[in-house]
Amino acid sequence: MQLTNDEIDLLRTSFRQVATTPGTAASLFYDRLFANIPAARAMFPSDMDAQGSKLISTLGVVVSQLHALDRMQPMLAALAKRHVGYGVVPDHYALLFEPLDWMLRQSLGDRCTPEVAAAWTKAFTGLTAAMIAAAYPPDRHAGVSIN
Ligand code: HEM
Repeated sequence: MQLTNDEIDLLRTSFRQVATTPGTAASLFYDRLFANIPAARAMFPSDMDAQGSKLISTLGVVVSQLHALDRMQPMLAALAKRHVGYGVVPDHYALLFEPLDWMLRQSLGDRCTPEVAAAWTKAFTGLTAAMIAAAYPPDRHAGVSIN
C-alpha cells in the first residue's frame, strides 16, 4: 500500500484530533463493534479501558510510521500472531472498518471529510492485509491431496 503525502497529512491531522480524547474514541469504536456483532464482546476482557488505550496507542505508532511502513512489519506480524491466540480469524478484520468509520465521524464531526474517511479506509486496508498475511500464511499444500 502506497499512501500519498496528502493522505499521510490527513491521517496525521485527524489522528491528532481523535487522540485528544483517546478514551472516548476507543469507546465509540468498541461500542459500535459490539453493537454490530454482539458475539465479539465475549472475546475481549471485561475491563475495556486498558484495551482501548492499547488500541489507540498502537494506532498512534502506526500513524507515526506511515512514511516507512516496511519498518513496522515485524511489530505488525507479532501483533497479528498474538491475535491468532485471541481467537481472531482473517474474516474478523473486515468487521473493524465500519466501527472505525463510525468512530471517526463521531469524533471529528465536520472534519471527517470524504478525503479523510477514504485515507483511513486505505490505510486500514493496508494494515489489516499486512496483519492477515503475516499471521495466516497461505497453505502451500492447498489443493494437493495424497489420496
Ligand atoms: C487493525 C487491526 C488491529 C489492531 C491494530 C489491534 C490492536 C490490538 C492491541 C494493541 C491489543 C492489545 C494486546 C496486544 O498487543 O496483543 C489487541 C488485543 C485484542 N484484539 Fe486486536 N487489533 C486489531 C484487530 C483485531 C480484530 C480483527 C479482532 C477480532 C475481532 C481483535 C480482537 C482482539 C482481542 C480479543 C484482543 C485481546 C483481548 C485480551 O486481552 O484477551 N483485534 N488488539
